[in-house]
Amino acid sequence: MCGIVGYVGPSTDDKALQVVMEGLARLEYRGYDSAGVALVTEAAQNGAGNGVQSEKRAGKLENLRGALYAREMAPSRTAIGHTRWATHGGPTDGNAHPHRGGDGDRLALIHNGIIENFHALKKELLAEGVDFDSETDTEVAAKLVGREYDRLGDLTEAMRAVVGRLEGAFTLLAVHADSPGTVVGARRNSPLVVGVGDGENYLGSDVAAFIGYTRHAVELGQDQIVTITPDGYEVIGFDGSPAQGNAYEVTWDAAAAEKGGYETFMEKEIYEQPHAVADTLLGRTDEEGRLVLDDMRISEEQLSRVDRIVMVACGTAAYSGMVAKYAIEHWTRIPVEVALAHEFRYSDPIADERTLVVSISQSGETMDTLMAVKHARELGALTLSICNTHGSTIPRESDAVLYTHAGPEVAVASTKGFTAQITAAYILGLYLAQLRGGTYADEAQAVMRELRGLPDKIQTVLDRMERVIEIARFMADTRSVLFLGRHVGYPIALEGALKLKEIAYIHAEGFAAGELKHGPIALIEPGQPVFVIAPGTATPHDLHKKVVSNIQEIRARGARTLVIAEDGDEDVVPFADEVIRVPASLPLLMPLLTIVPLQVFALHLASAKGLDVDQPRNLAKSVTVE
Ligand code: F6R
Repeated sequence: MCGIVGYVGPSTDDKALQVVMEGLARLEYRGYDSAGVALVTEAAQNGAGNGVQSEKRAGKLENLRGALYAREMAPSRTAIGHTRWATHGGPTDGNAHPHRGGDGDRLALIHNGIIENFHALKKELLAEGVDFDSETDTEVAAKLVGREYDRLGDLTEAMRAVVGRLEGAFTLLAVHADSPGTVVGARRNSPLVVGVGDGENYLGSDVAAFIGYTRHAVELGQDQIVTITPDGYEVIGFDGSPAQGNAYEVTWDAAAAEKGGYETFMEKEIYEQPHAVADTLLGRTDEEGRLVLDDMRISEEQLSRVDRIVMVACGTAAYSGMVAKYAIEHWTRIPVEVALAHEFRYSDPIADERTLVVSISQSGETMDTLMAVKHARELGALTLSICNTHGSTIPRESDAVLYTHAGPEVAVASTKGFTAQITAAYILGLYLAQLRGGTYADEAQAVMRELRGLPDKIQTVLDRMERVIEIARFMADTRSVLFLGRHVGYPIALEGALKLKEIAYIHAEGFAAGELKHGPIALIEPGQPVFVIAPGTATPHDLHKKVVSNIQEIRARGARTLVIAEDGDEDVVPFADEVIRVPASLPLLMPLLTIVPLQVFALHLASAKGLDVDQPRNLAKSVTVE
C-alpha cells in the first residue's frame, strides 16, 4: 500500500527531485505515515565522487518537504521516492524508506509490500555481522541487494540475485552510487508501472506517480525486473529471460487525480458518481442490444454451467456484493453467497468448476481479496474480477474482468467506487440472466434501460443535499448513530454506518430492520438518531409496510428518525423527524440512490468536526497486506 516513484532523466538539475516529490504527492493516498527520497549525486557535480543522498521523515509529506527545504540536495538525474504505510516497524524517521545497503551504504532501496521471510534473512545477515538501523523488513532487502551489488557490480543482476530469495509481496526500487542514470525495479504480488518519456523514464506504483509527465505506460507482469535509463527500459523475468510488460495509454489526466475545485477528494468523488455509473454502463451492449462484458476469458458455455456464485470482497466492496446478491439471485435464480475475502480463504470453502467466484475490489490490490481469488482458482473455480484499476493484480489473476470506470478514487473512504461496483454487479447479473434464458432474460433490456437513467437520478439526489448537509453539521457532537435497512437497504445501512465510523470516528451500527426486535431495539433511548432506508413502495412481500412499522416502533421509544424514502412515499411522513427524498426506481436499483445521502451526511459531519476526511486515522487506501 505504500507509494513508490522512480525517475531517470538526461540532465543533472532539480528535475529528478521535483518529479519524485510531485509523484509522492499524488501517491500519498496509498500511505502517509512517513516519506523519503534518495538521489544519486554525480562526481562532476559535487566534486566529491559519486554518492547517494537521502532524506526521510515520519509524518505526512509536508515534513519531508520541510526537511528537504532546510538542506541543500545535490543536482541529480536519478531519484527514487517513497510514501509509507507502516507494517513492520512503527512510523518513525528511522523506519521510513529509503534504506541503505552495500559497501559504504552506497545503495538505496524502497519497498511496497511485506517480505514474509525477513526474520530468517535478517538472522543470516546478523550472523555475518551486518548492522541494521531499522525494524523494517525492507532494510533486509536493501542489505541483500547492496551485498550482491558489491559482488556482481551490476544493479539489475544484484536485484535478480535477491528477489528469488524473498517470499511474500513486494515492489522494490533501487539506485546505486556507482550506477547513475539507472533505477532498477522488481515486482511480485504488488504493482509497478513504467512511464515512458522522451529521453527520460519513470516508475510508479500506479500511473498517478507520473501522469503529469507522460501517458505512455507499461504494466509489469508478475515476477519481473525492469531497468530504466534515460534512453529506455528493459524488462526481464526473475529467471533472467527477456520479458515484456503490457503497454497502454492512460486515458485520464492529471486533473482527474486532483481535487477539481472541491474541498476534499471525497466530496469530489461523491459528486462524480453520476459519471462513474454512466461510464461503467458504457459500451455494454452490442448492435442487437445484447449485453457484452470486457476481458472475458471464460466461455459462454462455462458460464452457463455455473450453479453457484460466491462474491469475495472486503469492507465497502463486500457491501456492494451484498447488494448484488439480491439482484443476481432474483434475475438468474443462481444461489449467491457473499464472503468476506479474509474469511473465505480460511473457511475450507467448497468450490469447483461450476462455481463462479466474483471478486470485487476498487484498487485491485487488496491482499485478502487477492488471496481468496488465488485459493478459488486452486479449487478449480471460475474467477471473475470487478475492479476499478486497470492492470492491477486481482484482474490479472482472474479468468475474466469487468472493469468499473469510476476513474481514480483517491479519498480513503470509497464512494464512487461503491456505486460503480454495484453497477458492474448488476451488469454481470443481467448478462448471466441473458445467457441462461428464462423470465428475466426478456426483462434484462428493460432493467438496463432503467439503469441508464440512474445517473440522472443520482444527480437529482446530489442536487437536493442542502438539508442533509444542515443535519450533518447540526449533529457534529453526536456520539452514536444507528442505521436500519431491509432487503437491498440492509447493505446500504451497513455501508452508511461504515462511512460514518471511518471518517467521523463516531460509533455507528447498521442493522437489518427485521432484526430490531431480536435485540438492537434495546439500544433505542430518547434522542437516539436512527437513519432508516425505506424500501421502494413496489418492493415485494409488503416490505415497505413492514419497515414503516419498524419506524413507528423506534419512534415510539424516542428515536429521532431520519428516513430516506422515494418520492411520493407518504406513508413514512407521520413517523419521520426528517424525510430525505430520492427519486423512485426499480426496488433492486434503489441502492444507487439511497447510499448518496449517507455518504454526504458522513462527509459533512466529519468536516464539521474538523477531521481529515480524505486520510482518516489508521487507514490506508489499499490494504496490500493480510
Ligand atoms: C471503506 C473502504 C474499504 C474498502 C476495502 C476494500 O470506505 O474503502 O472498506 O472498500 O478495503 O478495498 P478494495 O475495494 O480496494 O479491495
